[in-house]
Amino acid sequence: MSRIAYVNGRYLPLRDAKVHVEDRGYQFADGVYEVCEGGGGRLIDESRHLERLKRSLSEIRIRMPMSAAALGVILREVVARNRIGYGIVYLQITRGVTRRDHAFPVPQVEPSLVVTARPLNMARNAALAEKGIAVISVPDNRWGRVDIKSIGLLPNVLARQAAIDQGARDAWFVDKDGAVTEAASANAWIVTPAGKLVTRHADHGILRGITRTVLFDVINAQNLAVEERAFTLEEAFAAREAFITSASQIVLPVVRIDGRPIGDGRPGPVATALRRDFHRYAEAG
Ligand code: PDD
Repeated sequence: MSRIAYVNGRYLPLRDAKVHVEDRGYQFADGVYEVCEGGGGRLIDESRHLERLKRSLSEIRIRMPMSAAALGVILREVVARNRIGYGIVYLQITRGVTRRDHAFPVPQVEPSLVVTARPLNMARNAALAEKGIAVISVPDNRWGRVDIKSIGLLPNVLARQAAIDQGARDAWFVDKDGAVTEAASANAWIVTPAGKLVTRHADHGILRGITRTVLFDVINAQNLAVEERAFTLEEAFAAREAFITSASQIVLPVVRIDGRPIGDGRPGPVATALRRDFHRYAEAG
């Protein structure tokens, strides 16, 4: 079965799903995106993802091409047309197509909207979570507004590739003060030796992950202590556990950072229990 994508009003086989070479997403990475877990006709945390999308768009002054409800219909339709049992749906909005010029087009053009979906291998993800992953640390050389879910991801791409080149799976960005900000495409967490969860506060230096937001509910339900603050790489080396969170990986234990084992070098009980309970607290609609 051919995969189906939505492109500016049409559902098309992936091979025919094309955007113009002068789309500002292609020319300038002038756009934003969302990734949402979905399948079996449902989308996980749709309203939170669409709220964040609205915020990202408004921060870069692109208007919503249609209402959140209408976008939701398209997301669901793409999931259905691709017969996704368990997977992710990807949505991208750019400033549209116009002759290449850095300034915003005058008059305004229609934003471009693309939606794709692909299945995830649930068993493979579960096996990865049981094993845990290794990460490397890299300097956070991204721009100052990574709270906007911009499609400009070159530092993230290079960080992920550096990790793979070094036999690891992901990279943790470290800012100029030695504090971990987040992973290449996920939020970063540790469990301190005293058993407290720590993740960086959501300022302009990280993306406020939806998984991260929902996880606070799981943490409260499990009566765990949590702090939103910067933590250093040194603190992470000494942590009892470490993990990352994102829509596609939920909670994924980190068992090595820069080659050093975290805790006993295996996924810990806190990350494992949070992963197990996550979907009881996420919205499925
Ligand atoms: N990434 N931080 C960054 C830099 C991210 O790219 C992501 C998500 C997150 C976690 O956000 P959420 O919990 O809402 O997925 C944090 C998506 C999954 C991606 O780029 O594929």
